[in-house]
Amino acid sequence: MSLSIGIHDLSFATAEFVLPHTALAGHNGTEIGKYHVGIGQESMSVPAADEDIVTLGAAAAAPIVARHGSDLIRTVVFATESSIDQAKSAGVYVHSLLGLPSATRVVELKQACYGATAALQFAVGLVHRDPAQQVLVVASDVSKYELDSPGEATQGAAAVAMLVGVDPALVRVEDPSGLFTADVMDFWRPNYRDAALVDGQESINAYLQAAEGVWKDYTEQGGHPLSEFAAFCYHQPFTKMAYKAHRHLLNYCGHGAGPDDIARAVGQTTAYNTVIGNSYTASVYLGLASLLDHADDLSGRPVGFLSYGSGSVAEFFAGTVVAGYRGHLRTQAHREAIARRRPVDYAGYRALHERSLPTDGGEHPTPEQTTGPFRLAGLSGHKRIYQRR
Ligand code: HMG
Repeated sequence: MSLSIGIHDLSFATAEFVLPHTALAGHNGTEIGKYHVGIGQESMSVPAADEDIVTLGAAAAAPIVARHGSDLIRTVVFATESSIDQAKSAGVYVHSLLGLPSATRVVELKQACYGATAALQFAVGLVHRDPAQQVLVVASDVSKYELDSPGEATQGAAAVAMLVGVDPALVRVEDPSGLFTADVMDFWRPNYRDAALVDGQESINAYLQAAEGVWKDYTEQGGHPLSEFAAFCYHQPFTKMAYKAHRHLLNYCGHGAGPDDIARAVGQTTAYNTVIGNSYTASVYLGLASLLDHADDLSGRPVGFLSYGSGSVAEFFAGTVVAGYRGHLRTQAHREAIARRRPVDYAGYRALHERSLPTDGGEHPTPEQTTGPFRLAGLSGHKRIYQRR
């Protein structure tokens, strides 16, 4: 009998501040309907000066370790495309902040927004090899585009942590996967740049091509027909993209694509992304959190996951929601993570955006702005110093 392996627990964290799109529109004169309706975004999370992917990742994972302990965790996979070091995995800092056992392997993975899905699939493989172990997957990103660019409205920041193991309480990850890779320059960030470069329309087309590609392969591998899925969690660089992608998939498969069909399939996956913004690797799993926290009972139903990472790599797979999952959700904590953010005005956001860490190797404490459990206290001799409150 094949093992049941998947997501046993899921928790997310987001940044200290929030910028409503009305404030961005007030600055750049954009008609607010373009943000609220055209791209489907209400606000975006903005990290404080003493927050980064490590503090976000640790904040997402801490409740999981508090609930389950760390005895079974033998691997931490940290997925990000906003890496803070060319050599050291951000996961090692998280491992330290969470007090995980030294008998752990820790590694960082990168392929744009797709990295967390690679991490999840690798975790499933590790658990298959040794069902006694659990894998902690952490997906953490800060999405940053140039000020006054079209991409600016699609920024955000968040981390999702998932505990992967046998007999999962939330979602069983199923075979097969549909896969797709194409060498395209739709979005990229050379090592010397803080903000991503993007060809907006090209990136949307590349995403839709990848959606076709993964679905074709998924079908050839013998996956579920489209009509069997209860809902679809898409990567959401902005929430309207999930609607565009699902319409594209329905048309590709020769189905009708009325607005109600599309809203039924993706509507409940967008509640968190619409107020957090693009969280790159975390985005598709924030979609899952939103679905599980908002939908009527999904026990036993397959959910489709479409993970896209620019450049590009994509994967489609099914996850079956496990009976009794509702007793394990963190709906209240997720709502609080969003509600606790402090509004920042446009000038404050701009100052945070323009801030960069000194590179002279000196002693540089960071201003204490966060109120969360972990903070980046400063830099000392080119080393990041973290604190647990
Ligand atoms: P833009 O040029 O500012 O916007 O760029 P637009 O002119 O295309 O308008 C956007 C939508 O708003 C359009 O709807 C307009 O009609 C509508 P659509 O035709 O697309 O359905 N609109 C209005 N609606 C209502 N009332 C109004 C109004 N005005 C206009 N008054 C773009 C938008 C998303 C391209 C830009 O923000 C951008 O470049 N973002 C970054 C790139 C991105 O998110 N790409 C998505 C696919 S790539 C991806 O997902 C990977 C990624 O996450 C990175 C990774 O993998 O690591 C980005």
